[in-house]
Amino acid sequence: MCGIVGYVGARHATPILLDGLARLEYRGYDSAGIAVITSTGELQIAKAQGRLQSLRTLVATAEPVGVVGIGHTRWATHGRPNDVNAHPHGDCADRITVAHNGIIENYASLRDELMAKGHTFRSQTDTETLAHLIEEELGDSDDLNLAVRNTLKRVTGSYAIAVVSRAHPGRVIGARKDSPLIVGLGVDENFLASDIPAILKHTREIVQLDDGDIADLTATTVTISDLDGHPRQPPTLHVDWNIEAAERGGYPHFFAKEIAEQPDAAHRALLGRIITREPAPTLALDALDALVASGRLDAVRRITFLGCGTSIHAAMIARYAIERWARLPVDVAIASEYRYADPVVGPDTLCIAISQSGETADILAATRLAREANAPIIAVTNTVGSAITRLADGVLYQQAGPEISVAATKSFIATVMTLYLLGAWLGRRAQTLSEPEEQAILHALLDIPEQMRRTLATFETREGQQTLASVTGRLKDCASCLYIGRGVGYPLALEGALKLKELSYVHAEGFAAGEMKHGPIALLDTATPLVAIATEGKTYEKVVSNIQEARARDAFIVALATEGDDAIRQHADAVIAVPRAPEFFAPLLTVIPLQLLAYQVALARGCNVDQPRNLAKSVTVE
Ligand code: G6P
Repeated sequence: MCGIVGYVGARHATPILLDGLARLEYRGYDSAGIAVITSTGELQIAKAQGRLQSLRTLVATAEPVGVVGIGHTRWATHGRPNDVNAHPHGDCADRITVAHNGIIENYASLRDELMAKGHTFRSQTDTETLAHLIEEELGDSDDLNLAVRNTLKRVTGSYAIAVVSRAHPGRVIGARKDSPLIVGLGVDENFLASDIPAILKHTREIVQLDDGDIADLTATTVTISDLDGHPRQPPTLHVDWNIEAAERGGYPHFFAKEIAEQPDAAHRALLGRIITREPAPTLALDALDALVASGRLDAVRRITFLGCGTSIHAAMIARYAIERWARLPVDVAIASEYRYADPVVGPDTLCIAISQSGETADILAATRLAREANAPIIAVTNTVGSAITRLADGVLYQQAGPEISVAATKSFIATVMTLYLLGAWLGRRAQTLSEPEEQAILHALLDIPEQMRRTLATFETREGQQTLASVTGRLKDCASCLYIGRGVGYPLALEGALKLKELSYVHAEGFAAGEMKHGPIALLDTATPLVAIATEGKTYEKVVSNIQEARARDAFIVALATEGDDAIRQHADAVIAVPRAPEFFAPLLTVIPLQLLAYQVALARGCNVDQPRNLAKSVTVE
């Protein structure tokens, strides 16, 4: 996830671009850069590693002066976060520059082809391929728009791009597929941006580009077409948000925004990893292939997950699938315990260190311990270049985009998705998964973003909102609330309870449903609601029995069940329905109402949703 901004008009572009990038820094802040076409027709590029302030400092001494330009703030995916990999990226002669948000999945083959034709690459990014491809497509022609369209027809993956060219000094071209991009309409000036806050200071008239759109901007015109050049005229929207609301995408809290972003995060988690080509999708995990090539996995006989908080719950969910698919024993270790234990670990233990921030002190310490024992280590993190990546032999990025709310949402689902990819990869390698089984997993993963959208839509309907509101009413004043589940529903119960306690300060605990009668059932009474994960699966009947046992103790029962399960209604006081999904994949949908419930209870209790008391996003101290 990165931020893009573009300007063409009569004003000095640099401050407009820098200001726009400041509003997009939430999308990434590994590096930032701008490219401005000067009045003498030069293309001046300034870029710097680190937060936008580094670029501001650089620009303060040698400010590019011109009225056309593009800017970018980066959340690294391909290539380390450094000056060279910072955007915008130029072609061989820096005639054309491109800022890009997304992942070009076929960049490696395109790059080889372009290098064979004599193009010289300077960065490790997928984006630079676009600049050289536009150069190649442009050849001696003057038709920049056609060259960009032809380029985009050749790439697979996701993109929002902004392009400027020295030979076309009064224009900025933008295009999008699976990454956001809007056009801002001004008076004798026009704008491009990844998100509304970047340009809200200058205009409130916005055009949302659709996938496959290309927008050609001059100071006085905006022409939009599809990639075949057929004109399109999307509507102009008037935005009346203030800046603060716009940064949250119009949502009252980042937590709500990030819940809504989960389908996109799930989609991004698969980008570049499941290649959707005919006749069947294939798995591509380069980081793991490199580990195999290095021999680091040769001795592996077991897996240990290391994590804290929500990351540990994601690991507990994935454990079931990985054991089934790869037939390897999997342990899940709480990092703060592991670091002071005397764990049995060595080259036969693949340690998978999971951390959204990549900076959690306990995880770093636990990982160091495993590393000292010569265990191969894979980091699963959302933060490129974070400390955990430097301890690992290989890295799988969650690709969820920046998560601002302290309570994790989209990083949870991106972690589970990433670990499922890893599980399928291990199963294929161990030949414990048949080809059709692997295909079923890949298809189930590919279906998740759309099913998440459907799940979210359910809670926007009147009925969905009423159900949430009535359950919120029961939970908001209770002294304690229990969550139960079995199989993958058990760690999901832990995550649901964690969300409720972190956000609303209502005491909540998750239990394996079968353990209820060994203690927790003693807690139940009319004042203690029970939230049961009762979606379809191997243990569905067992969970229903546990619900009945709780109901016999007068507990208020909330069942999260599969759409169409009417039978559950006779056992529960409230039923929250989620779309049907294969058992291992259901938690990726069921977690959504659990998050929404915690959110509603927190709102009803007047809590600080994005920054709950006593908590921090990244726990860098022990
Ligand atoms: C903190 C956050 C949690 C997070 C945990 C682990 O407690 O508040 O949301 O799950 O740290 O963070 P990590 O960045 O290592 O995944």
